[in-house]
Amino acid sequence: MQEDLVEEAARLLAASRYAVALTGAGVSTESGIPDFRGPSGIWTRSPEAERRAYRTYQLFLTDPKRYWEERLSRPSLLGDLSKAQPNPSHYALAKLEKLGVIKCVITQNIDALHLKAGSVNVIEYHGNAFKLRCPHCNARYNVEEYDLEGLKQRGELPPRCRRCGSPLKADVVHFNEPIPQDVMLRSLQEVYRCDLALICGTSAVVYPFAELPRIAWRRGAIIIEVNLEPTPLTLEGISTIFIQGKTGEILPKIADKVEEIVEKKRRS
Ligand code: APR
Ligand code: ZN
Repeated sequence: MQEDLVEEAARLLAASRYAVALTGAGVSTESGIPDFRGPSGIWTRSPEAERRAYRTYQLFLTDPKRYWEERLSRPSLLGDLSKAQPNPSHYALAKLEKLGVIKCVITQNIDALHLKAGSVNVIEYHGNAFKLRCPHCNARYNVEEYDLEGLKQRGELPPRCRRCGSPLKADVVHFNEPIPQDVMLRSLQEVYRCDLALICGTSAVVYPFAELPRIAWRRGAIIIEVNLEPTPLTLEGISTIFIQGKTGEILPKIADKVEEIVEKKRRS
């Protein structure tokens, strides 16, 4: 049964004109990074952490100094992302891009693992944990360009934008925070253009990201969903194909099948 779905997904991907991948935390759990709403997800395990997360953006707006003092005093909920390595899910999507099939990966993940795995055209919809961003002029900086601990010791938080002087925040999109304009625009261009969207490892409940597969679907794109559990996309009949299981097992199988088809086409 699953083999047939993998075959069908590979056939549709190989025949697509412009396929994009949309990913969520589920593609990184096999790298040891917890997801949010899965059975052992961060919000599942700690509703208090989720409630606190809903207040973070408001704290930045009202008191950027305290936003940073809190941020620097608590370890990341996702663990130490700098040690995380890509897993077969990420490598499979990078391979599909190299085969010329996946044109873009739009990810909700802030762990930069798609980039580490070799994907090139990646849109980080919720930002990147290794960067700082200026909400005023949208300048982005690598975290190591600022001595955050030193600023904290000297009472000089928040870090300030070198272009416009505004307080910088982490380049991660918090609840109720607008998606940066440049990211929103690029993502919409990609889903408007696609004729196939491969949705992997997302519960598809957080907007506006969850609108992206719906836009593609309304424009007639094929929706292939790979997830441990059914989601609203599955239940609302938006997914053309739903393959239930681990992305780290399923995506490499799909990528291998696509490679076979593409190679065959090349030889004929
Ligand atoms: N393979 C396939 N699916 C998986 C795997 C796996 N190895 N591990 C987990 N999943 C599934 C879970 O069952 C769940 O349906 O991936 C989905 C992850 O959903 P969420 O935890 O809600 O993560 P995501 O959809 O990315 O959340 C969106 O919510 O809190 C915000 O900003 C945060 O970007 C995040 C956004
Ligand atoms: Zn600025």
